[in-house]
Amino acid sequence: MPQQFWKPGADKPRILEDEEGGVVFFAPSLSSASSSSSRFGYASIGSQRQRLPVYKYRTAILYLVETHATTIIVGETGSGKTTQIPQYLKEAGWADGGRVIACTQPRRLAVQSVASRVAEEMDVKLGEEVGYTIRFEDVTNPAATMIKFLTDGVLLREIMDDPLLTKYSVIMVDEAHERSISTDILLGLLKKIQRRRPELRLIISSATIEAKSMSDFFQTSKKHRGPEDHEFVPRKVPAVLSVEGRGFNVQIHYVVEPVSDYVRATVSTVLSIHDQEPAGDILVFLTGQDDIDAAIQLLAEEAHASRKISSGLIVLPLYSSLPRAEQDLVFSPTPRGKRKVVISTNIAETSLTLEGVVYVVDSGFSKQQFYNPISDIENLVVAPISKASARQRAGRAGRVRPGKCYRLYTEEYFVNEMSSVGIPEMQRSKLVSCVIQLKALGIDNILGFDWPASPPPEAMIRALEVLYSLGVLDDDAKLTSPVGFQAAEIPLDPMISKMILSSNQLGCSEEIITIAAILSIQSIWVSGKGVQKELDEAKLRFAAAEGDHVTFLNVYKGFLQSGKSSQWCHKNYMNYQAMKKVIEIREQLRRTALRLGIVLRSCEGDILAVRKAVTAGFFANASRLEAFSHNGMYKTIRGSQEVYIHPSSVLFRVNPKWVIYHSLVSTDRQYMRNVMTIDPSWLTEAAPHFFQNLRRPDPIAH
Ligand code: CDP
Ligand code: MG
Repeated sequence: MPQQFWKPGADKPRILEDEEGGVVFFAPSLSSASSSSSRFGYASIGSQRQRLPVYKYRTAILYLVETHATTIIVGETGSGKTTQIPQYLKEAGWADGGRVIACTQPRRLAVQSVASRVAEEMDVKLGEEVGYTIRFEDVTNPAATMIKFLTDGVLLREIMDDPLLTKYSVIMVDEAHERSISTDILLGLLKKIQRRRPELRLIISSATIEAKSMSDFFQTSKKHRGPEDHEFVPRKVPAVLSVEGRGFNVQIHYVVEPVSDYVRATVSTVLSIHDQEPAGDILVFLTGQDDIDAAIQLLAEEAHASRKISSGLIVLPLYSSLPRAEQDLVFSPTPRGKRKVVISTNIAETSLTLEGVVYVVDSGFSKQQFYNPISDIENLVVAPISKASARQRAGRAGRVRPGKCYRLYTEEYFVNEMSSVGIPEMQRSKLVSCVIQLKALGIDNILGFDWPASPPPEAMIRALEVLYSLGVLDDDAKLTSPVGFQAAEIPLDPMISKMILSSNQLGCSEEIITIAAILSIQSIWVSGKGVQKELDEAKLRFAAAEGDHVTFLNVYKGFLQSGKSSQWCHKNYMNYQAMKKVIEIREQLRRTALRLGIVLRSCEGDILAVRKAVTAGFFANASRLEAFSHNGMYKTIRGSQEVYIHPSSVLFRVNPKWVIYHSLVSTDRQYMRNVMTIDPSWLTEAAPHFFQNLRRPDPIAH
């Protein structure tokens, strides 16, 4: 690729300028950082800690937290916010007397990674003084844990059992700029909790927070009574602290013409960097496992074709469902004389730090959830990123020395068309889970809730309607007893919860819990690349005429009969790690079910009961084969959307007349994943209200 393909950006080379217009409160640097590096080849952990940008602000941070109810900390990725601030708080005594310091993350992978890093820095065993909790995995010791990392979703669940989160002294809501649904709900609730618990301290930290709007959010309280019984009242106005980064300049390069295929453009850019630029690792931002795998494949082909160009390249993927061992490779140091290329989703944008990156290739896209309340369809689509994200991505190149960022879009596009910040997840998602959680927390007026960003009313109404049809909410939009309260206790989509609850009456809870566990992981099969034919044949060995859900039961039975053997999985093109995870999740769900008073019972092969239980949860996802369709086109019963059975389903090309699906994925079309045949009369049986306005399902046989 010729060099003139690239146009250097007119952007100021310093990327992370302050865009908020002077809201940033600067604290004096009270402690002096030790800038001298260790005399030894490797810096000790202690001196590494002192060289992080936040270290200079240690005293300032502790002072602000002491004196303010809420402190907002803005700082570049890698400045030490996540790993250091909880330790400073602990050192200052915030974990004394059995209290706990919490630090939330939107992503599970980040929770595990930072927790183990902090345990290492403190030289303690993970799960003791430093622990973490993610859904289905609790690595803490209630008697010993002082610093706890957790997803914001898990903290929300804790509010159900302990509405004032009494065991925490400080809660740090990290990565707040990501504006995940759980982060937004959490911020709204923490603001309420703080009014009842003035001694609770909040830290809102992030890389590119809009500090002004966050600060406004925490300042304006609707009604507030002073905490008379406390001698010391922390200031209500949030403190805002900007932690200066130590990022180096990053030169931005744009393409001159828009690229048509960003995967190919990525590969040629990586190869030309490797060919022409000095040593330094490359971080590539693509959108998901599919295009990451495609890029790796293409790089391998190119490497084969031109051995000279690509020698010395170590190409590694990074996405959240990657097995632990492969994740560790990404974080391990690059061997001398080699160049690492990490091809990542936007997980590496802010929540994980990779050392040694000097070049960034930014595709300009990420996978984002979009929900259309009219069609009631939620899609994960490849969509353009925002300027804030683009700056973050570029910033990853300047951690160790001046770097370069190659943007696979034009400068005109960046300047004129890219939106400046992303849309909060709350405003582009289905809200069923969010609504049930708020209801369970006793928040009745959901539309009047104090949101950092209000969700669209249509999406709220849709969610209320589905929950009403599931029997989770009553006519007054309150949780029903017991179904509503029980459904809220299960940490899964309410449709799955309802399916589990229905299995109790239908006498098939053991089977349904297996199905629920398998549905909650991405896939139990190995990825089909290069082995599609063998994979299809393997699936046929387990395939059930009733569809994927029943097939899962056959698979699970086979796995147990093999003695949970990894060879058996290998032989059957099944992902052994995924099956182990299924066993784990299943065990957790069993415990939850027992707690809810569900009788664990097997239906001993009465598949009809299983199918009815699935329908009781998923009736809203029913669709019907178009009468004269020759290409397998279905229409959803609610919304009349065109959908097709996904090629990974055992019902692909079988095309039964009536089906329900677990989820939709959209590529060139809308595909139904995990599909099961039903009898249409079950729909009106399961949810009369939901289907009352539809024409009667016609009883024509298949
Ligand atoms: O949160 P923030 O992005 O400000 O920084 P951090 O995650 O606390 O990272 C601070 C430093 O710790 C960085 O230099 C990271 O490279 C290092 N770190 C690490 O080596 N391993 C981790 N799992 C996390 C952080
Ligand atoms: Mg961080």
